[in-house]
Amino acid sequence: MQPTLNDVKEIALQAGVILKQGFGKRHDIRHKGVIDLVTEIDRRSEAFILAQVEKKFPGHEIMAEESGARKGDGGYCWYIDPVDGTTNYAHGLPFFSVSIGVADEAGMLLGVVYDPMLDECFSAVRGEGAWLNGTPIHVSEVTTLVDSVIGTGFPSNAHTSPNNNLAEFERFTLRVQAVRRLGSAALNLSYVAAGRLDGCWALGMQSWDIAAGGLIIQEAGGVITALDGDANYMQPPYSLVTANPFVYPLMMDVLQKKDA
Ligand code: IPD
Ligand code: CA
Ligand code: CA
Repeated sequence: MQPTLNDVKEIALQAGVILKQGFGKRHDIRHKGVIDLVTEIDRRSEAFILAQVEKKFPGHEIMAEESGARKGDGGYCWYIDPVDGTTNYAHGLPFFSVSIGVADEAGMLLGVVYDPMLDECFSAVRGEGAWLNGTPIHVSEVTTLVDSVIGTGFPSNAHTSPNNNLAEFERFTLRVQAVRRLGSAALNLSYVAAGRLDGCWALGMQSWDIAAGGLIIQEAGGVITALDGDANYMQPPYSLVTANPFVYPLMMDVLQKKDA
């Protein structure tokens, strides 16, 4: 059965209640890597989302951060990040989201990114548009790097990977109005869609970080590609650049060191 945007929104909003109720409390924090955390709320939120999907859409494929992949036969795949911004969450920083994307055989179909602290629900349906709490959103109209505020994120293996984003961070910092490292990739992307950020780049993400936000950007009139310009950014290493159509080529020039 094909899920609707309302189905996905309902699940994301209810998961958001779990995040909000747990926020600021003492957490059971475990380490998946040296700087890669998971809390009991990540697990609770994911268990809730999985139970909802299994009940309403049995047989759908699932790609979920905390429990991995589950094969399906229904022609749909759910990309689930139960808490995007776990480091913020674990430290009591009120900036995180629930991110759920649904793909069919033609690609991403539905995307929902919900920030329970601000009660902001970013969403999109392929070919139909993108919204913030039901109101249409569009990328910004900024045309220069020096007037742009852009977001980024660092991979969870930044301590050990040579692709740690530090060289790119320096290059952009010297060219734009400001770089913001917000701590939730899904919110970074949603903020580009809503015109709050003019662009964003990120290295070494995961499919569940970017599935929903990528569709929301495209439906809001933004451009999103892999770092080499490949339109298929939903493949390893899940590194991407995205912006409004004016800023996108300028960001590509910085990444490819073609600018002055
Ligand atoms: C992380 C956040 C962060 C990004 C990391 C991700 P998580 O996701 O999106 O902004 O820089 O690479 O792993 O672990 O909080 O779901
Ligand atoms: Ca994430
Ligand atoms: Ca997560």
